[in-house]
Amino acid sequence: MCGDMKLGVIGCGKMATALVKGVLAQGVVKGVDVIGVARTEASRLRFSEQTGARNTISIEEVVRESEVLILATKPHDIPGIIQMAELGKFPDKLFISVAAGVTLGAMEKLTGGTGRFIRTMPNTPSLVGKGAAAFSLGSNCGAADREIVQSILGAVGLSVEVPERLIDAVTGLSGSGPAYIYLVIEALADGGVQAGLPRIDALKLAAQTVAGAAAMVLETGLHPAVLKDMVTSPGGTTIAGLAALEDGAIRSSFIAAVSAAVARAKELGKS
Ligand SMILES: NC(=O)c1ccc[n+]([C@@H]2O[C@H](COP(=O)([O-])OP(=O)(O)OC[C@H]3O[C@@H](n4cnc5c(N)ncnc54)[C@H](OP(=O)(O)O)[C@@H]3O)[C@@H](O)[C@H]2O)c1
Repeated sequence: MCGDMKLGVIGCGKMATALVKGVLAQGVVKGVDVIGVARTEASRLRFSEQTGARNTISIEEVVRESEVLILATKPHDIPGIIQMAELGKFPDKLFISVAAGVTLGAMEKLTGGTGRFIRTMPNTPSLVGKGAAAFSLGSNCGAADREIVQSILGAVGLSVEVPERLIDAVTGLSGSGPAYIYLVIEALADGGVQAGLPRIDALKLAAQTVAGAAAMVLETGLHPAVLKDMVTSPGGTTIAGLAALEDGAIRSSFIAAVSAAVARAKELGKS
């Protein structure tokens, strides 16, 4: 889509490496058009080995050479980088932040209001191309910027656009969600082990069941309740299992988990 876009990455860690691998594999950009910067040589070399992209020690060089820049350091490093690299002087460049909790308003303010920023909330399955991300456009962004961020996030999973006030909700659902599902997978496997399955097989079956059910929801477009009803025969095994889950208040437990994580994200955002 953006075949000849020049992409820069500030911070060459896990999230940056996953995004760059994805955009290269999907042909969103060409390898020669990607350059990353990190503080330590070890990080820069690891990034280049894993992605084939170039690296440098100079943030200025990355900013100068790139049209689109991913800000992928830890959140507390972002303000210093915006000020030190004087990103406000580059209203023609698009900055896409993946840093949790750093608001568009804060980033724009640090550039005197001129910076073109997008805030994203990716999740860890992006590392294996199965991410679920949300993004919010800053006040200086337009439709072309939306296409760019969709192509980058789309290279490592799916993305939705939300108003920035809902980013905390995304954090509580898809940001923290993989951990909730790891717990589900572990518990399902425990059930299988209790029924006599070897642990290794139980884990594989549990994980693939979760992946398969998720694919059914995404690929058929059917409501999960309809899919559930389709596999629940009268007096059968599945309704026996579902009734046991309802005894454990599974639905309200998950709703409470998301609400608790959203509340914590709001708290952390204030500090
Ligand atoms: N990992 C995830 O799944 C995930 C999910 C959602 C959001 N995020 C967000 O993604 C961001 C990065 O997370 P991560 O897990 O990828 O972190 P990480 O692996 O620790 O990577 C951070 C990178 O930033 C570099 N860096 C720090 N300060 C710098 C500076 N002043 N100039 C240039 N480079 C600098 C570090 O370089 P050195 O190693 O050389 O110090 C390192 O390469 C975070 O803001 C996090 O909130 C991550």
